[in-house]
Amino acid sequence: MNSAGNTLITEEAIRSRVNELGAEIARDYAGGRPVLVGVLNGALVFMADLMRAIDLPLEYYAVAASSYAGTESTGSVEIIKPLDADVSGRDVIVVEDIVDTGITLDRLLQDLRAAQPASIAVCTLLNKPSRRVVDVSIKYVGFEIPNEFVVGYGLDYNQQYRNLPYVATLAPEQDGQHRQDG
Ligand code: IMP
Repeated sequence: MNSAGNTLITEEAIRSRVNELGAEIARDYAGGRPVLVGVLNGALVFMADLMRAIDLPLEYYAVAASSYAGTESTGSVEIIKPLDADVSGRDVIVVEDIVDTGITLDRLLQDLRAAQPASIAVCTLLNKPSRRVVDVSIKYVGFEIPNEFVVGYGLDYNQQYRNLPYVATLAPEQDGQHRQDG
């Protein structure tokens, strides 16, 4: 059976918050045409729902990053798939599944800034502020969560559980040192 530990955020709570975020983004960018940049693999599910909740013309692209992390992050980030679009002069919204240490996002933002967009904002479904080692500015946060390893709604543990429609904590014996692919 495909299940994890305890449900932390229900499917209904996610749906309603994603709709709120979409409405907020549509208000903030009214009259514009933002470019959403989703960070694979984790942000795929959130990205798919969020963009349909934004009632504006928009474009979306995907980048992919991989980081090794566990109880202690090594801080090494590899960009597996860089952005293959010209975003100079555009309003970019980076869409993340979770910001944990902030190392992945910081690296992606450095690359994006070099592309000289008009603006960059970050929208993350989940935020774990207690784990932060790099200060990153996040404009839109779905949910602040405690320092627990979570899966579901795109987030994985060893590539499992991404298809759960809710966010759950992982049973403690399943957590540990492991590879996290964006
Ligand atoms: P960072 O530590 O902020 O660089 O996060 C790196 C990546 O680790 C995130 O984009 C996620 O893909 C993954 N990650 C961090 N915390 C969790 C978690 O609790 N569950 C699943 N993946 C996570």
